[in-house]
Amino acid sequence: MTNDTRTADAKSRQDRVLIFDTTLRDGEQSPGATMTHAEKLEIAEMLDEMGVDIIEAGFPIASEGDFEAVSAIARQSRNAVICGLARANYKDIDRCWEAVRHAKRPRIHTFIGTSPLHRAIPNLDMDQMAERIHETVSHARNLCDNVQWSPMDATRTEHDYLCRVVEIAIRAGATTINIPDTVGYTAPRESADLIRMLLDRVPGADTITFATHCHNDLGMATANALAAVEAGARQIECTINGLGERAGNTALEEVVMALKVRNDIMPYRTGIDTTKIMNISRRVAAVSGFPVQFNKAIVGKNAFAHESGIHQDGMLKNAQTFEIMRPEDIGLSASNLVMGKHSGRAALRDKLRQLGYELADNQLNDVFVRFKALADRKKEVYDDDLVALMTDTASEA
Ligand code: KIV
Ligand code: ZN
Repeated sequence: MTNDTRTADAKSRQDRVLIFDTTLRDGEQSPGATMTHAEKLEIAEMLDEMGVDIIEAGFPIASEGDFEAVSAIARQSRNAVICGLARANYKDIDRCWEAVRHAKRPRIHTFIGTSPLHRAIPNLDMDQMAERIHETVSHARNLCDNVQWSPMDATRTEHDYLCRVVEIAIRAGATTINIPDTVGYTAPRESADLIRMLLDRVPGADTITFATHCHNDLGMATANALAAVEAGARQIECTINGLGERAGNTALEEVVMALKVRNDIMPYRTGIDTTKIMNISRRVAAVSGFPVQFNKAIVGKNAFAHESGIHQDGMLKNAQTFEIMRPEDIGLSASNLVMGKHSGRAALRDKLRQLGYELADNQLNDVFVRFKALADRKKEVYDDDLVALMTDTASEA
């Protein structure tokens, strides 16, 4: 290998951001989002297929059903690392290992709440908790080469203590350290500062991968995750459609498309085949029973829809006027010019042309008046409405 190739190779490793999908674990923790065994297997297969690096398949100790689902996903996995969640005790970790060990590439993810509020729950003081972290991460590492550790509520943990426990986890063998913003409390600058501080202060921090795991309580999960990446995190934890507890997790489609579309200012790569996004978004919405809001970024029904005359006219001349990404990039066939009361002549002419009607200017003017009257009565004018309108116009002529 020449020096140039070596440098290019090292740079490409630095630029690569791993996508860790937790739709089947944190996503499924949304009240009411429970999926069946078969549905979980189907979603896991789609995630693997689209190039997700790590799939968090569930919480094996939580129930027999979760254990069975994680084991089955581990057995069917092809490329992705399959990860299970475990609390900081041997029983959880052993059960998790039992489930993930069938994967080609298994991972154990163990966690404990490290903020003052969370330390009070198991009633451990700082030293006792540090000891527990050392024991449980070492135990996990004795079972599996690939161990992720998370200080839950990291963004509300004292910085000195966070540095101390992260160092302990690294020494005990953790290969990924995840920094969860468990209650969606942080903001982009703070999210970045936290990762930078850990990289600066913790011995051994440069030997492991830092992950960012954000919740969306203040609507900042995507911004916080991207800020963490800019500061040095190289794994983003996210879910399809942003499914997750309360206001949800970072949405996979948002971070992946942000890194693709704004690669000029965020020069990082993921391994995701973005053309599979729309399909999996629809499937997750269907099986979880959580519909996607119309104006949701990337995958909402209106994300590539245009109704106003000015926008439709611009779109017909050059789609980039009002779209920053191509619908094909997320697996849609085309943008949607919605016919309604804000639509103009250019869009009406174009739509009628698609339906097989070629109109002279004076005919178009007449039909346009009728169309506006109809659009005032109806929220959306569908293709069938336009065909009926053309039939009526022809019979009156
Ligand atoms: O939000 C959180 O803190 C979690 C942990 C279990 C990683 O989901
Ligand atoms: Zn979470």
